[in-house]
Amino acid sequence: MTYTFNRQYPATRLRRLRYNDNVRAMIREVELHPKHFIAPVFVLEGNNQRETIASMPGVERLSVDLLIDYAKELLAEGVTTIDIFPVIDNSLKTPDGKAAYDENALTARTIKAVKDAVPEMVVMTDVALDPYTSHGQDGLLDDSGYVINDATIEVLVKQALVHARAGADIISPSDMMDGRIKAMRDAFEAEGFVNTAIMAYSAKYASAYYGPFRDAVGSAGNLKGGHKKQYQMDFGNRAEALHEVAMDINEGADMVMIKPGQPYLDLIREVKNTFGVPTFAYQVSGEYAMHMAAIQNGWLSDAVILESLIGFRRAGADGILTYFALEAARQLNNA
Ligand code: PBG
Repeated sequence: MTYTFNRQYPATRLRRLRYNDNVRAMIREVELHPKHFIAPVFVLEGNNQRETIASMPGVERLSVDLLIDYAKELLAEGVTTIDIFPVIDNSLKTPDGKAAYDENALTARTIKAVKDAVPEMVVMTDVALDPYTSHGQDGLLDDSGYVINDATIEVLVKQALVHARAGADIISPSDMMDGRIKAMRDAFEAEGFVNTAIMAYSAKYASAYYGPFRDAVGSAGNLKGGHKKQYQMDFGNRAEALHEVAMDINEGADMVMIKPGQPYLDLIREVKNTFGVPTFAYQVSGEYAMHMAAIQNGWLSDAVILESLIGFRRAGADGILTYFALEAARQLNNA
């Protein structure tokens, strides 16, 4: 069959560079690598303990010994950072959350154990009081139930110092109090922790996507007031996120985070373009749960995992906190 060339066809054919895998790879603009992932982990007291989380299929709470095995698996797949979230027994929770700065408590022991067993693993910790307060809020309450900013900061600083002394590499305040980054930076410098880095949850929204996380750490049932809108951001706001990021950078944050992730990609791009600092996204528990629900029902293929993660990179994120870290790294390494 012959046909004549007809100039009405396009002069530019973008499809030429979509012709096969190697041509596509040659012009791919954004890469995803296991080193871009930070794996959040839930740690339990005890030995050889493993618990499933109903709303986060595939994620487990692990005792420290099993967490060390998990950290080794992550490292073998190229994931070099974990973020530790402790599961605290209800009997240890108090209104003032004082277990948060107990030097012998679960978080400090976990940091030390992981750094001893897997020294190459970068260990990050979450600073906020919600795992430790009987009311489930991230700070101290006044009589009306309002979270008191400045008094909370004093406790958060003690908590952050416990993590730094235990050997954490990165401290990640998720509490959204005003002024806490400066207070922590000053305290670290005063104790000589000049290289302990701070990743600030800068633009953290009061989101319904945190539900499964609160199940995972057992704070859901406790949450007095039912929400955190008096300190986490209103999800209608955009400029305010830039203001939050600017404050945290000025106060000494080394890295900033936008949270949740997928519904907030616009902010990742805007923060990266505006400030150019290392910018991270948190693909939170509810985003994980949505993807897993669809995958487990056969409604979506598990190819959506890497697609969702590269979306963060395309939006400008340097890295992503994701419960898919191990699975995504395996998919990348086996591709
Ligand atoms: C604690 C904290 C939360 C998350 C990270 N740190 C919960 C909250 O603010 O209520 C959420 C993480 C997730 O949903 O995956 N302050």
